[in-house]
Amino acid sequence: MSNKLRILMLGDLVGKTGRDMFARHIPTLRANYSLDAVIINGENCADGKGITPHIVKFLQNNGVDIITSGNHIYDKKEILPYLDEYDTVLRPANYPDECPGKGMTFFMCKGFQVGVMNLMGRLYMPSHPNCPFLKALDLVEEAKKITPIMLVDFHAETTAEKIALATLLDGKVTAVVGTHTHVQTADAQILPKGTAFMSDLGMSGSLNSMIGAKKEQIIHRFLTQMPVRHEVATDAPYVLSGAIITLDGPSGKALSIDTVYLIDNEPL
Ligand SMILES: [Fe+2]
Ligand SMILES: [Fe+2]
Repeated sequence: MSNKLRILMLGDLVGKTGRDMFARHIPTLRANYSLDAVIINGENCADGKGITPHIVKFLQNNGVDIITSGNHIYDKKEILPYLDEYDTVLRPANYPDECPGKGMTFFMCKGFQVGVMNLMGRLYMPSHPNCPFLKALDLVEEAKKITPIMLVDFHAETTAEKIALATLLDGKVTAVVGTHTHVQTADAQILPKGTAFMSDLGMSGSLNSMIGAKKEQIIHRFLTQMPVRHEVATDAPYVLSGAIITLDGPSGKALSIDTVYLIDNEPL
């Protein structure tokens, strides 16, 4: 058996549109790319805000291994007890210790322990957790005792903060990929010391939207400064975006990072 692992990481799935896109395409992606595991960011899975245990089950039934998150993790109350009871859904590790859930976990994949870490940025974010850089260094030390394979989802707004964290962790983890902006960046690369990096994986949802929400509502907000309800956009075309990280199991080194950006015009 090959020592190579191929892991798909997807950016924020937005609402039922994102979930349906995922369910529609994941069997083909798994087969075509010989995927060994799937990690998604699920912070917007439930009508654009948060995630519920019911949705976690749906995603698991469709082949998700681990779900990362971000600033919307606590939007649905039903998820709070779930976060402490199970390891499937992560919250940003640099939230205060008192917060429900945890920010790092491990799962078995082809005989290897795979580590997943979730962190959140502090620049231009709606909340300002503890330092993601110092937290990352602490957790990397902890994780090293268990496995050399570590995939980091850094949920942050700015490319600079993401590049900075990836540079700090270069050579220490397998991959640092970003989420939160819902717009995929064209900078997938292997950094000088061997860590795979991409500023933002993008999202899964309606492409005819603003970050997955109905455009008119957000334009209304810009025009009036009035608060508006964000509804999930349901119109085609749809997008499913992320990256496939291929890694060497024994060393945890990234071998490649390949962008996934799939457009679908067929109504869901
Ligand atoms: Fe998001
Ligand atoms: Fe976010």
